[in-house]
Amino acid sequence: MQTDRVPLGLPAVLAGPPPAAARPAGTGAGLTDQFGRVATDMRLSLTDKCNLRCHYCMPAEGLQWLAKDKLLTAAEIARLVGIGVDRLGVRELRLTGGEPLVRADLVDIIAVLRRNHPSLPISLTTNGVGLARKAQALADAGLTRLNVSMDTLRHDAFVQLTRRPFLDQVLAGIEAAARAGLGPIKVNAVLMRGINDGHAAELLAWCLAGGYELRFIEQMPLDADHGWTREGMITAAETRSLLAADFDLAPDPRARDGAPAERFEVRHRGSRALLGTVGIIASVTEPFCADCRRTRITAEGQVMSCLFSRTEVDLLDLLRAGTTPADDDAVADRWRDAMWAKPRAHGMGHPGLGDADFVQPDRSMSAIGG
Ligand code: 5AD
Ligand code: SF4
Repeated sequence: MQTDRVPLGLPAVLAGPPPAAARPAGTGAGLTDQFGRVATDMRLSLTDKCNLRCHYCMPAEGLQWLAKDKLLTAAEIARLVGIGVDRLGVRELRLTGGEPLVRADLVDIIAVLRRNHPSLPISLTTNGVGLARKAQALADAGLTRLNVSMDTLRHDAFVQLTRRPFLDQVLAGIEAAARAGLGPIKVNAVLMRGINDGHAAELLAWCLAGGYELRFIEQMPLDADHGWTREGMITAAETRSLLAADFDLAPDPRARDGAPAERFEVRHRGSRALLGTVGIIASVTEPFCADCRRTRITAEGQVMSCLFSRTEVDLLDLLRAGTTPADDDAVADRWRDAMWAKPRAHGMGHPGLGDADFVQPDRSMSAIGG
């Protein structure tokens, strides 16, 4: 029923360029911001809908979903990605949600993007529900890589975290994706105190045995219920000590190269044999904003220069206003303006920017795209 859904007060949508910082002429063709960062990594949300209700993201009753005519169509997605790649220097694309697999035309979208951009890395972040059936088709359509979100291997904790009994589907999805050649598959996990923080080591052992790359992500205040607390969050440091009971972790000598995850080589305690690596993403306690290369587009065609943006810039109206190359120029320009105003940092735990500066955005993770 619509009435018991929680409406989210969405951020202010700007019809034109953001007023805070007009972009001077000569800032280059790419998505440059005032602090010298250049966004080359495009994250595009395909839908705000999801078939799970993870505590750190959605309320139990779901959210008020976007009307279908507000969503970017497959053709609009292809056009936006084309503008990003051909005019704005986008070099990799990640498709997110909500849950992108709930979009019936996902395979077709990937096939068109692949045809238009033969060498563009295209990855997908999914919760894995329904993946077993789609994995081969996704690979055939030209998907490059896949991240699956899975926080625990235990059924009761999975239900507690996601409010849905679909763990077996997720496990089958991961295996099917590996068989379809969509590796190296990354598994994303968020630890929640008292629910799955005790399962970190067994999840790592399972991923290492299967050849999957596990990454733990600090819980960020992006839950629709606004239930996040700093004390409740399992920090990256705490995650490392949870794993240290079973494993030795040594910093991975490979360059981090703008990646948010700090990677560690993993060995059994006291053993010299390398088992694989684990990533730990300290989004809150050791933020990587200074190296951020991301530009985000929501499922309704708004640019979010940062996960924590409180303003958005609308591209959908421009996309729908015309289809000529000149119209594409206007879209590209507005996108550049939006990114020029990207905040320096999200304000949680940055030197000189105390938590007092941080305001939780109104959109939940599902409505932004991970
Ligand atoms: N904090 C950290 N990670 C989150 N995700 C969803 N909500 C949060 C949050 N509040 C993760 C999901 C998924 C990715 C898209 O983001 O687990 O892996
Ligand atoms: Fe769905 Fe992902 Fe949010 Fe979980 S975190 S409710 S899987 S969008």
